[in-house]
Amino acid sequence: MSAELILTNARAGYRTIEVLHGLDLIIPTGKVTALLGVNGAGKSTTLRVLAGLLPLRSGSLTWQSKTITTMSTLDRARRGLMLVPDERAVFATLTVRENLQIIAEATGHHDITPALEAFPRLRERLTQRAGTLSGGERRMLALARALLARPRVLLVDELSLGLSPKVAGELFAWLGTVADGGTTVVLADQYTEEALGLADIVYVLHRGECSFVGDPAELKPTVSAEPV
Ligand SMILES: Nc1ncnc2c1ncn2[C@@H]1O[C@H](COP(=O)(O)OP(=O)(O)O)[C@@H](O)[C@H]1O
Ligand SMILES: [Mg+2]
Repeated sequence: MSAELILTNARAGYRTIEVLHGLDLIIPTGKVTALLGVNGAGKSTTLRVLAGLLPLRSGSLTWQSKTITTMSTLDRARRGLMLVPDERAVFATLTVRENLQIIAEATGHHDITPALEAFPRLRERLTQRAGTLSGGERRMLALARALLARPRVLLVDELSLGLSPKVAGELFAWLGTVADGGTTVVLADQYTEEALGLADIVYVLHRGECSFVGDPAELKPTVSAEPV
């Protein structure tokens, strides 16, 4: 199994607080890796490090065997490493069409059709301002924007946060098809059945360190229990 991303002995944090205390991760190519853990475990921080939004204080990151520890977020995105953050990151005052066009043009792929094929509901709302969309629709728009960049690696933070089970189920199913198409997916989530169902490999984070790595089936019986 080849490695897409390898994070080695990663230390990172905010101001005087260290959040990741020497984290090691191997993200396999073309698979779904789930980063699970309770609130505050360091999942979003890890995704920010992978996307280049938060610098490593020590340690290193390689992508397809090349060191990218200091590569900018924009350069990572241009090469296909895309983060969909947990706050529904869209331009609220722009329309759905404008939100899609901006990213399509920035990444050199001018056609927004693939996004509308993936999420037909957005087609009905092209002229609507993103700020007036429902939570689920805004999440779809954020995912659709990432999709337009034709990602090699998609980092998705808390896909189902604040959504109804039905909408969350639709989005997980969509992410499954993206993964089936060969995109490497890294999914940060709470202990949800959907995340475990989709994952090929699970890392459990606890206070900025890895407390478990392995097959999701090994975790399922204890899914309702607090991690150690
Ligand atoms: N922007 C920030 N400034 C300061 N501390 C932060 C910031 N973001 C997160 N933290 C802290 O880092 C720790 C890990 O947070 P986070 O990575 O968001 O965890 P998770 O995504 O697993 O809930 C928490 O203690 C949180 O309070
Ligand atoms: Mg988080």
